[in-house]
Amino acid sequence: MNVLRFEHVFAFYEEGKDVLRDVSFHVDEGEFIAIIGHNGSGKSTLAKLSAGLLSPSNGKIFIYDELLTPKNVQLLRKHIGIVFQNPDNQFIGSSVEDDIAFGLENQNIPREEMVKRVKEFATLTGMDDFLDKEPEHLSGGQKQRVAIAGVLAMNPDILILDEATAMLDPKGRKEMMDIVLHMHELNPKLTIILITHEIEETLKADRIIALNDGKVFLEGKPKEIYAKEDTLRAIELDVPFFYKMKNALTSIGVDVSDIEDLKTLEEYLCQLNA
Ligand SMILES: Nc1ncnc2c1ncn2[C@@H]1O[C@H](COP(=O)(O)OP(=O)(O)O)[C@@H](O)[C@H]1O
Ligand SMILES: [Mg+2]
Repeated sequence: MNVLRFEHVFAFYEEGKDVLRDVSFHVDEGEFIAIIGHNGSGKSTLAKLSAGLLSPSNGKIFIYDELLTPKNVQLLRKHIGIVFQNPDNQFIGSSVEDDIAFGLENQNIPREEMVKRVKEFATLTGMDDFLDKEPEHLSGGQKQRVAIAGVLAMNPDILILDEATAMLDPKGRKEMMDIVLHMHELNPKLTIILITHEIEETLKADRIIALNDGKVFLEGKPKEIYAKEDTLRAIELDVPFFYKMKNALTSIGVDVSDIEDLKTLEEYLCQLNA
């Protein structure tokens, strides 16, 4: 089943200036999809459309095979948990606890269960010492942790992270990614759409969609996408270290096509050297 499908979607903010142009793709249940693309390529617009926060000017969007319309948008949106790059846009409560609980309050979850879940996800994201603090006094990275905790606590079917860890340091980013991947292991039906500038975070994705100028430029498995290093560079995108190595070796005639991870590649090279 497709949990999300775009069919020939166009979108604009100002009439006559399309920022998405004829975008079609699908996401299956339980897939981990990474979306990459330079600034302004349309990634956040795609995220907003997926969550029903913006309507396409043309084309169709389906969520769990149901056409998204103004009538069912409220209902279908319940499947989706989304975290944006700028956490200031998503705070409403007077404490971190209120913020994490916000989405749960709309889900008619008993108070006791709610308190338990808030604590659980605050702990998971390293924010349990801040539950009674005012969100506005937190750092950008801490706000992002709170936003991620709030969305995960709601147990969404589709998790969209739109550069949701951009304000964290590399260690914090890795922690958040590990949490998301762990949630995915616990619930293989959870679909993850990761929009990121951090190219290394896309290595474990099932598929990657590269946007350029509002269009789907490339789509495929990481090993297919990152083999096209020159094509990606032409649209200002970088390639993960592992694939840079692989591509460089391939270009000098070393066959490393079967090697799937950096450790195996290192071992192979050491053994070549011996
Ligand atoms: N609220 C808005 N009003 C007008 N133009 C916008 C708005 N948001 C984004 N855009 C424009 O739409 C294009 C795509 O933006 P966006 O989807 O945010 O790209 P990305 O997330 O890949 O950086 C850009 O040219 C951007 O300037
Ligand atoms: Mg964006």
